[in-house]
Amino acid sequence: MSEPYVLETRNLIKEFKGFVAVNDVNLKIRQGDIHALIGPNGAGKTTVFNLLTKFLIPTRGQILYKGEDITSLKSPAIARKGIIRSFQISAVFPHMTALENIRVALQTAEGTSFSFWKSGTSLNKLNERSMELLESVGLAEYANTITVELAYGRKRALELATTLAMEPELLLLDEPTQGMGSEDVDRVVELVRKAAQGRTVLMVEHNLSVVSKLCDRITVLAQGAVLTEGDYQTVSADPQVREVYMGSDGSGERGVASAEDDNLEAAQ
Ligand SMILES: Nc1ncnc2c1ncn2[C@@H]1O[C@H](COP(=O)(O)OP(=O)(O)OP(=O)(O)O)[C@@H](O)[C@H]1O
Ligand SMILES: [Mg+2]
Repeated sequence: MSEPYVLETRNLIKEFKGFVAVNDVNLKIRQGDIHALIGPNGAGKTTVFNLLTKFLIPTRGQILYKGEDITSLKSPAIARKGIIRSFQISAVFPHMTALENIRVALQTAEGTSFSFWKSGTSLNKLNERSMELLESVGLAEYANTITVELAYGRKRALELATTLAMEPELLLLDEPTQGMGSEDVDRVVELVRKAAQGRTVLMVEHNLSVVSKLCDRITVLAQGAVLTEGDYQTVSADPQVREVYMGSDGSGERGVASAEDDNLEAAQ
């Protein structure tokens, strides 16, 4: 029987000098889902990502990928398994063109074992694949633009493309819409939807409108622990979530109410 979850954590704990940042977290990520990790500032979301990619070593607990215990693997081995974190592994070089950045990413991917075009690599193939990736994030017309000259949202799209060059099976996105205006946010929603085809995505996202549009399942973290889990409807209706996420006065700027505002904006 095949493993129902692509990624699982079991009783995952991270302590920083006695402070428990991640407290007994049991994540279950289904194959093919776009799964959101949400929660207030300091809830432990980024720390969970750091544990999954071994930027940090868990204090206790297990991480399973496709049923295999990967808790003791180091970052490069995790990446070779296909667990790729966006915006960290794949920094873009500001003074190269968009196309050159993708080529570098593909060549980096080639250095690892999982690249599909490893056999018989040729410059043509490299350029072809680079253009495909640029097209997939809507940047084909910017192929020869120096990265530093790209608008912020396009730079993030380029970063996503360099991450996709690593051929992730499980793509981890930490706040892909952070700092973006609504037009760029809409574009990122479409990009993530597209990037999620044929793979699993785990994303930290503060914009609940984005979460409601994209995500199949949501895990809510608060003070390091899982508060609740479910689809958007279930989670957003949970009084505990409303309390913790918005604060008891309901004024939290990133709360459930603001997602409704965002939805209203999006509908206008
Ligand atoms: N290296 C570290 N040393 C000590 N404490 C840390 C370290 N990294 C994170 N923390 C603490 O762990 C808690 C969780 O931090 P984390 O960055 O995971 O939160 P987050 O949910 O990603 O928040 P945000 O929404 O602000 O990005 C915070 O209280 C933070 O101060
Ligand atoms: Mg964070």
